[in-house]
Amino acid sequence: MIEHNARPEWTDVERWLTTTVVKPGPEHERALTTAVERGMPPIEVQPTAGKLLNLLVRLSGARRVLEIGTLAGFSTIWMAQALANGGHLDTLEYLPEHAAVARENLEAAGLSDRVDVHVGPALESLPTLQGPYDFVFIDADKQNDANYLEWAVRLGRPGTVVVVDNAVWEGSLLDPSRDETNAPGIVAALELLGGPLFDATVVQTVGSKGWDGFALAVVR
Ligand code: SAH
Ligand code: DHB
Ligand code: MG
Repeated sequence: MIEHNARPEWTDVERWLTTTVVKPGPEHERALTTAVERGMPPIEVQPTAGKLLNLLVRLSGARRVLEIGTLAGFSTIWMAQALANGGHLDTLEYLPEHAAVARENLEAAGLSDRVDVHVGPALESLPTLQGPYDFVFIDADKQNDANYLEWAVRLGRPGTVVVVDNAVWEGSLLDPSRDETNAPGIVAALELLGGPLFDATVVQTVGSKGWDGFALAVVR
């Protein structure tokens, strides 16, 4: 798992921004508390990032959203709440225990009708899906990030918005010992994002998850 190494003041500021600006609802809190109660790793996106996903789905007017990596459904809820009328979200999760908790949280949030949780390795679920998706959020096993980006192109269209979490991985991208980490998978994905298939950037972040960031891209 990633070392978060968060400075206390980053976490304090994040908490203040969350209560002052982001204002999560009880359905978001529930996804966080059930994850802890059920022994899941605390690796959901920060609330500030969850709200950003919500705003990006709204800004792009997305009606069809694909998420790779569900966990307890925290990011799923933020995005599903932003879907345009009649919109739908497919989220892919490897572990049945995680998928079960996510389904409970989506039900409690009143979002079950617009979300399907697909259980299994994402690379097995992806070929069963039908595009085009308007928005893709990639947040699962980092060694497959480049494969997931290829699927985002295949299941997307020119203009599809793609967000990749953990794009900075504790600043380890240039670390000579990075091969011991998930960094090589992330580096491969960033190289793909810098190529002809995408227009992309990376935003670095600090907060409760330490030094990290996300890639934001559009399929060309
Ligand atoms: N997006 C979530 C966090 C996801 S954590 C949020 O922000 O709330 C990453 C999740 O990806 C974990 O639940 C893990 O079980 C799942 N995962 C890991 N490898 C996977 C794979 N090959 N296919 C699908 N899901 C996978
Ligand atoms: C890990 C995965 C994530 O998606 C994340 O945001 C943080 C950590 C992990 O596997 O360690
Ligand atoms: Mg992540």
